[in-house]
Amino acid sequence: MREFTFFLPTKIVFGRDVVRKAGEGLPLGKKALIVTGRSSARKSGALDDVLSVLKGEYVIFDRVENNPTGENCLEGAELAKKENCDYIIAIGGGSPLDAAKAMAVLAVNDKRPIELYQGWEHRALPIAAIPTTAGTGSEVTPYAVLTIHEEETKKGLGGPDLFPAVAYLDPKYTASLSREVTVDTAVDALSHLVEGYLSNRATSASDLTALQGIAVWGTAIEALRTGELTMEAREDLLLASMLGGVTIAQTGTTFVHALGYPLTYFHGYPHGRANGVFMASYLEYNHGYAPERVDTVLELLGLPSLEAFRELMDELLAEGAYQIEVSEEQIRAYAEKAAKTRNAAYSRGTPSADELTKILKDNIL
Ligand SMILES: [Fe+2]
Repeated sequence: MREFTFFLPTKIVFGRDVVRKAGEGLPLGKKALIVTGRSSARKSGALDDVLSVLKGEYVIFDRVENNPTGENCLEGAELAKKENCDYIIAIGGGSPLDAAKAMAVLAVNDKRPIELYQGWEHRALPIAAIPTTAGTGSEVTPYAVLTIHEEETKKGLGGPDLFPAVAYLDPKYTASLSREVTVDTAVDALSHLVEGYLSNRATSASDLTALQGIAVWGTAIEALRTGELTMEAREDLLLASMLGGVTIAQTGTTFVHALGYPLTYFHGYPHGRANGVFMASYLEYNHGYAPERVDTVLELLGLPSLEAFRELMDELLAEGAYQIEVSEEQIRAYAEKAAKTRNAAYSRGTPSADELTKILKDNIL
């Protein structure tokens, strides 16, 4: 008997000029806190679109850092409180979208950021999310991943009120991204889709979005390889990214993310790229538990073998790759920490610290 819940309270609006077309429907309250990074919202044209149709009051917080910390989120939340903002418009990649979610909670709950991992009482401010990269899927998830220095890692917090109320997805905002950033973020989207499909929490409903997303991602492989990123390819990648978000909103991510976080925290590897390092080994590992699922992934991507998948990841991530300086002791510590995460528990076979140590060694030494 199949038993599952599929929850997605976010209204998804996808297409060309969706923000401008939203017009008077854009505000979710009286005064907006517009949350962005330092440049992407402006460079992508998304902020201009928002400001051209936003009739109500607003204040801009444009100091979201890459891999934001709780303190950074607290800064934005203080501004929201001071200015009496009652909703948030979040524009950017994963960092601004996730930071905006933490701000939405901190603006109405008197807590320190670290305390949010134990939950909160007052419902977060509503969020309109506008992604400018195609990778995070955060516009349709109830998660915010923050950098937590106390625990020396990136860590996701979640709550049903962190689902944005509405997500506006327009591929034109991703047009100015370099090939390298496009690939890094696209690999993050693929990891969400594949991890969601291979998660031990996958359901018949989450499989629908995962399978469709993997197939759509597959159609963009040639564009990622050549760097000839047409608007059609960007549209496919944004759609795949959103479908990845919808998938992990149901399943969570698995050990690829748990192994990727220390590469980002300690070695500065961008998030998607850090996941990409382990994806081939992840498929090989899962072949032992769900071979038919792994074969389906390869088939949808149009790849003949696991080897071909590894070659694809190596080829895509070659530009911008650098040697990670890491000792065997550090690797062991990363593996032990990863083995204790929820991400590991959501993985088929629940990998041990020994298994994760081997995967880390095989891929980064
Ligand atoms: Fe991710």
